[in-house]
Amino acid sequence: MKPSFIMLAPMEGIIDHTMRDMFSAIGGLDRCVTEFIRVTSQCLPERVFKRGFPEIQSGSKTSNNTVVYAQLLGDKPEIMAQNAYKLARMGAAGIDINFGCPAKCVNNHGGGSILLKDPEQLFRIIHSVRQYVPIHIPVSAKIRLGFEDKSLSLDIAAAIEAAGASEIAVHGRTKKEGYKPPAYWDKIGEISDLVNIPVIANGEMWTLTDIQRCIKESKTTRIMLGRGLVACPDLALLARGDDHSALNWAQICLLLLHYRRTLNGRCPEKYINSLIKQWLVYLRQQYPQAHLFFNAIKRLRCADDLEKSIIAELRLQQQRQECLPTIGNLDLSELHASTL
Ligand SMILES: Cc1cc2nc3c(=O)[nH]c(=O)nc-3n(C[C@H](O)[C@H](O)[C@H](O)COP(=O)(O)O)c2cc1C
Repeated sequence: MKPSFIMLAPMEGIIDHTMRDMFSAIGGLDRCVTEFIRVTSQCLPERVFKRGFPEIQSGSKTSNNTVVYAQLLGDKPEIMAQNAYKLARMGAAGIDINFGCPAKCVNNHGGGSILLKDPEQLFRIIHSVRQYVPIHIPVSAKIRLGFEDKSLSLDIAAAIEAAGASEIAVHGRTKKEGYKPPAYWDKIGEISDLVNIPVIANGEMWTLTDIQRCIKESKTTRIMLGRGLVACPDLALLARGDDHSALNWAQICLLLLHYRRTLNGRCPEKYINSLIKQWLVYLRQQYPQAHLFFNAIKRLRCADDLEKSIIAELRLQQQRQECLPTIGNLDLSELHASTL
């Protein structure tokens, strides 16, 4: 069975607005969400929202018109609601609340996955946000299956539904399980059986086979892809089963060049190389050539040197395989022609 809805997972430090723009332009994605925006004790200034969520200034959409929700993380119902309201007034298309973050610095202050221990508090947060945010703007939640164990997973899901959330995205693991495979898609299936709001299944989908199995076991055709899509940028398109052949390494090199050029002006030069290396670490899982290329460039510090290396790799690969400049729905013909 094909997925009916595919979302790009929020990934703090990795999927920023440049990545959201690029992946949504490649195609197959129905929605994105920002990295979490941390709310502690005050209503955040607009500039903080605009920094993490630049799309709010262009209709809450990426440049190819894919909807983006804002994600908030915090534990105080009233303050969370005030921030959500502000985001709604600024134009956010939806508000997502993070109850999955395992980071100690976040959990020690009562936010993220620690709230999974307390379904009533979770209820209070969503209920308060729902009451403040205009009804036409969806409020959703992203959870794990529990904190230490999965015994509360159904109580958590029921609390989220009762509080008025429009949907739940479930990462099929507890906080304690971290990112260790497997993801328990069948446990997501128990939540699908229980609630009447849409459930979005998430966790450990790297291939089409994983996606098929997840859909079957989680009993939902709505999925969220994170690391799997970063490693395989056309995974959502492939999952749609449309007329699309998997990207080859030469095309990925062209995409790397596009990413590097897009980062120009969007991010301080000193961070560009780290961001590209970080992406290559994921690409290594899908493309063996990324491993060799990573080793070749890992000591480069200057962004221009890295750009020259990407172009050299692209030219080399083009002699070995055809590099179609259309990467899914993203047309990179001009960039491609300029490197020949
Ligand atoms: C580096 C990193 C950053 C993440 N940041 C967020 C975040 O900001 N908000 C959130 O709800 N989940 C975050 N997550 C969790 C992912 O959204 C997702 O639930 C998890 O990676 C499992 O899905 P996957 O196997 O498809 O990657 C993050 C995960 C990683 C690996």
